[in-house]
Amino acid sequence: MTDPDHLPIAPDAAADRLPRHIAIIMDGNGRWAQQRGRPRGVGHRAGGQAARKMIEWVWNAGVPHLTLFAFSTENWERPGKEVKLLMDLFLRTLKRDMHELHKNDVRVQFIGDHGRFGAELLAEMARAESETRSNAGLRLNIAVGYGGRQDLVEAMRALAKDVAAGRLAPVQIDASRLAAGLALHDQPEPDLLIRTGGESRISNFLLWQMAYTELYFTQTLWPDFDAQQLNQALSWFANRDRRFGRVAELPEAARA
Ligand code: FPP
Repeated sequence: MTDPDHLPIAPDAAADRLPRHIAIIMDGNGRWAQQRGRPRGVGHRAGGQAARKMIEWVWNAGVPHLTLFAFSTENWERPGKEVKLLMDLFLRTLKRDMHELHKNDVRVQFIGDHGRFGAELLAEMARAESETRSNAGLRLNIAVGYGGRQDLVEAMRALAKDVAAGRLAPVQIDASRLAAGLALHDQPEPDLLIRTGGESRISNFLLWQMAYTELYFTQTLWPDFDAQQLNQALSWFANRDRRFGRVAELPEAARA
């Protein structure tokens, strides 16, 4: 019998129709726990396990970049107890899983504003980034304390500083200069966003970077999102007609 935790070697979608970069909003942990009459923390722990498996599946499927939205700038507004629980979970997960990720050649990077994080968590994050910096496998980006608006504000602030210092003329500001100041600027933009948990919104995730991302929404709660469902999302993506604002190839007579 196939182990459900291990994606069949090849996904159904052909290799040249796979996304290069998947971004995921892992929503529904709280409701998953609630449905089982358990506290929300149980759902977050199950969500952590699901994230761990997803990292392996995505790489096995042949997708080289993965960005997980683990904690948004808005999540600071959750009750203090839940915020602490999440911070403890991040720390424990890092301590427990980093060795395995490193062994599997995963390169880890954190994006977001980390100014409010505790010293121990910050130290583990820095260690994870520096230890895995030369790895050539999956590029795993973990968005924590991240907000798309904040990302844009920081990129704009850097440009404004260059203008104020006379290093840059306002007329020289263009999309590529702005993009160069954003998180993940050295990686391809996400081709596919997966959001679990039934909501159809992007909740201040990679606002600029997702201008042409294909959006896949599913009712499945994050801890239940398994390899088979990833496969379904990949098949859905493989059938998208991505035009990036252009028109499809038209027969001569139909051209304007
Ligand atoms: C959203 O579900 C989930 C979060 C805010 C936390 C995500 C964190 C994890 C999946 C665990 C750790 C992951 C890593 C990569 C270390 P929700 O709480 O909003 O669920 P609800 O909508 O059902 O209330």
